[in-house]
Amino acid sequence: MTVTSSPTPVLRDARVPADGMYEGRRTLHRLPEGTDDLPYELFELVPQGRIIGAEVRGVDLSLPLTPELRKELNRALLEWKVLFFRGQGLSSQQQREFAANWGELETNPLLARGSSAEVVRFEKGGNGAPTFENVWHADVTFRERPALGAVLQLHEVPPVGGDTMWADMAAAYDNLPDTVKARIDGATAVHDFIPGFARFYGPEKLVPMQEQFPPVEHPVVRRHPETGRRMLFVNTSFTTHIVGMDRDESDRLLSFLVRQAHVPEYQVRFRWQAGDIAFWDNRATQHYAVDDYAPHRRVAERVAIAGDRPF
Ligand SMILES: [Fe+2]
Repeated sequence: MTVTSSPTPVLRDARVPADGMYEGRRTLHRLPEGTDDLPYELFELVPQGRIIGAEVRGVDLSLPLTPELRKELNRALLEWKVLFFRGQGLSSQQQREFAANWGELETNPLLARGSSAEVVRFEKGGNGAPTFENVWHADVTFRERPALGAVLQLHEVPPVGGDTMWADMAAAYDNLPDTVKARIDGATAVHDFIPGFARFYGPEKLVPMQEQFPPVEHPVVRRHPETGRRMLFVNTSFTTHIVGMDRDESDRLLSFLVRQAHVPEYQVRFRWQAGDIAFWDNRATQHYAVDDYAPHRRVAERVAIAGDRPF
């Protein structure tokens, strides 16, 4: 197929159609530039995708991590962006203890809680709550310090469906046309929970939440605090506009940028079984919970690790 869409005034690059989708080879670097691809000593790592997603075998997450194991798991997280651990069946407390190896746990007053304030519980499908995780997003980017990462465990899994997908936002950045990179270099965007959440709550809940979480500005391209990689940091759920750009141009550019998460070459898709754990780097990825399993139920619990201010 030939790309025939005319470039928008924002993009001015004949190679790139307005929706950002084009055929041809993508640059797919799994590791930050200059990083050696070293083996893992303390567990077996089975890649699930070309640049993102790996299953870790031979680790029991119910046990305390040694400093060496924590360090090697962190390297795997940075290099693969999302790690999968099959059949862990952790208690809520074990899940929190594992996540706490990466820092302070976050609370999320917007979502239903599980056994403690640090646990978010998702009960979907059947007659459960409406789903709003089936859009590409990074979690809580409306916070001044969005989550570093999250540990999700599935408790009830539908017979088929209910997969989660993740996209590598460093790869998304790497493949942007130079014209777009130049346009967003140094730009900031506003993130706000209102577009994603307002429809689910009445004013009695929204008003205090707006006081707690006013709109924040983050760089459109953030640098990973541990690897230094540049990553595209805007998403459909929470990014409302690019600062200092007229509304029309901001809308067109954002619409192009958020769609980069849709490119299959940057993605991995995980099929869950009950008791499986996914641990993702929320700084480096976006995710999408596929909503294809009603009337069956899907029950999951998430613990998130507080992050730092994007730069
Ligand atoms: Fe999410």
